[in-house]
Amino acid sequence: MSTETGQPAAISNRIIEKKQLSDDVYMMRIHAPLIAEERRPGQFVILQLDTNFGERIPLTIADGDPLAGWIMLIFQAVGKTTHRLAALNEGDAIENLLGPLGNPTHIEKFGHVVCVGGGIGVAPLHPIARGMKNAGNRVTVIVGARARALVILEEQMRSFADEVIVCTDDGSYGRKALVTGPLKELCERSPRPDMVVAIGPPIMMKFCAETTRPMGIPTVVSLNTIMVDGTGMCGGCRVTVGKQTKFVCVDGPEFDGHLVDFDSMMKRLSAYKKQEDTAHHLCHRDMQAASPGTPTP
Ligand code: FES
Repeated sequence: MSTETGQPAAISNRIIEKKQLSDDVYMMRIHAPLIAEERRPGQFVILQLDTNFGERIPLTIADGDPLAGWIMLIFQAVGKTTHRLAALNEGDAIENLLGPLGNPTHIEKFGHVVCVGGGIGVAPLHPIARGMKNAGNRVTVIVGARARALVILEEQMRSFADEVIVCTDDGSYGRKALVTGPLKELCERSPRPDMVVAIGPPIMMKFCAETTRPMGIPTVVSLNTIMVDGTGMCGGCRVTVGKQTKFVCVDGPEFDGHLVDFDSMMKRLSAYKKQEDTAHHLCHRDMQAASPGTPTP
């Protein structure tokens, strides 16, 4: 086993805790002391399950403890590698883990910061919201999900945020609303929030940016979902920001939400949908064969 972090392979990159948070979403705490020490909110790691043939996938760090030497990854099993990762268990090791990568979030005392997370986007939002709170901001967190079973990290957010608003599309928990509903209400209050950070599906980030645009409230979005190998070489993460071409893994992953061309980004993301659906279907078929009773999505 090798490691690009220079950590001894015998103890590093080992999964020390694994939890299934919902149907396809998993949390893993991984022993990675050097990354845990260096990482800042907004940064990601690249992992590879097989040195010779494994694809490299970027995952944003959801939490970490420099003293205990672990980082937390939360991911959705959508492609072949994330399904293989989900099949690993406590005690198994990730062959290669590289990081922290990407530009950290710009954190300072802005005043009132509203952090909006949708679906799996709540994971990368978590360290940013905590960092904003530690910097002395008043922090309101809006957590959105399709249904109650898909709400993640609510308890962790409540442990430090001044206010947490949970919304579900189907009304099975919290408010029956899209995240833009409470965001609009907060933006219309006086005094207005000083900063909004939105992370989630591109369509959600687009409408969060459209909600804050008329009030001129600075809005940061994270485009991490478009990254492919995170090396700056494949070009898969190319986006248009303020009419300029940017690479999410090198120039981001965070950008001014009012300048991002979300429509072209969504078009590029849908280019991989067929392959992802095929991988998802095949992996579930394999998992069912290996353990009958696994739910089929
Ligand atoms: S993910 Fe490949 S260039 Fe950014």
